[in-house]
Amino acid sequence: MRIEVKPLKAPLGAQVTGINLSSSLTQDEFNVIHDAWLKYQVLIFPDQKIIDEDQVRFSRMFGTLPEKAVHSQGTKSGQQLHKSVMLVTNIREDGKVIGSLPDGEMHFHTDGAYERNPYRYTMLYAIEVPRAGGDTLFANMYRAYETLPNELKQKLDGVEAEHGFYTGVDVSEKMKQALRIDGYDGKAIHPVFIRHEETGRTALYVNRLQTRRLIGFEETESRKILAHLFEHSEQTEMIYQHKWTPGDLVAWDNRCTNHARTDFGPDERRLLLRTTVQGVKPCAAVSAS
Ligand code: SIN
Repeated sequence: MRIEVKPLKAPLGAQVTGINLSSSLTQDEFNVIHDAWLKYQVLIFPDQKIIDEDQVRFSRMFGTLPEKAVHSQGTKSGQQLHKSVMLVTNIREDGKVIGSLPDGEMHFHTDGAYERNPYRYTMLYAIEVPRAGGDTLFANMYRAYETLPNELKQKLDGVEAEHGFYTGVDVSEKMKQALRIDGYDGKAIHPVFIRHEETGRTALYVNRLQTRRLIGFEETESRKILAHLFEHSEQTEMIYQHKWTPGDLVAWDNRCTNHARTDFGPDERRLLLRTTVQGVKPCAAVSAS
């Protein structure tokens, strides 16, 4: 098999074929994937037949995994999951959801922005998907930065924002309740413009689901600027929309993308396995002025 990387007809993303993720990667395959990831930000590996151990082995090639993912315990329906794998699912047993991030729409966000050290990468592997809805949208946050007016780049140069665990300025009570995990309330402050630690490029680092306020701005102005940044980064010319097929593994770089989920009906079943790779505290971008 020869590994092939084909850019999507979209502002970000590439499809990777000719690779079998149920086996260990060679160093050459790793290099091709790593280079493609830095270039295209989101990688789609269709038609994979993997178990959680394969996903963990693949993820570990890119860094350290969290000790334990939320809701990683085995379930009555028989999935015995590795401790670093999170079930993203709306499936319920005895009326109780067996995983995390269960129901419906999710606003744009980036994984772990509410932590001091957000996740560098996320990998999501599809097992069951809705007939309609439950797509994942990805936004190119390099492009979002690059297309901001110079005046706004200058105004926000060196500014930081506060992020909370699914408690952004724009989040409805309903969505907060749907996504919350009891007893957890992460909060962190990061630069609005960050420098990608590997590519050196600048990315916009705010999002509708998690960003609460701009530090040093009066509340009304903070809300107004954030609303503008959210709308700007969610325009269709920044976005790739992934419609899932079972067997897809989609892997994204949280340092330069935001992602969101479209709504889906309560009667649909959705089950994906998620791994994340630990990152480092985001650094401020070099001044634009
Ligand atoms: C996530 O935000 O990690 C999950 C996205 C999804 O369910 O599509």
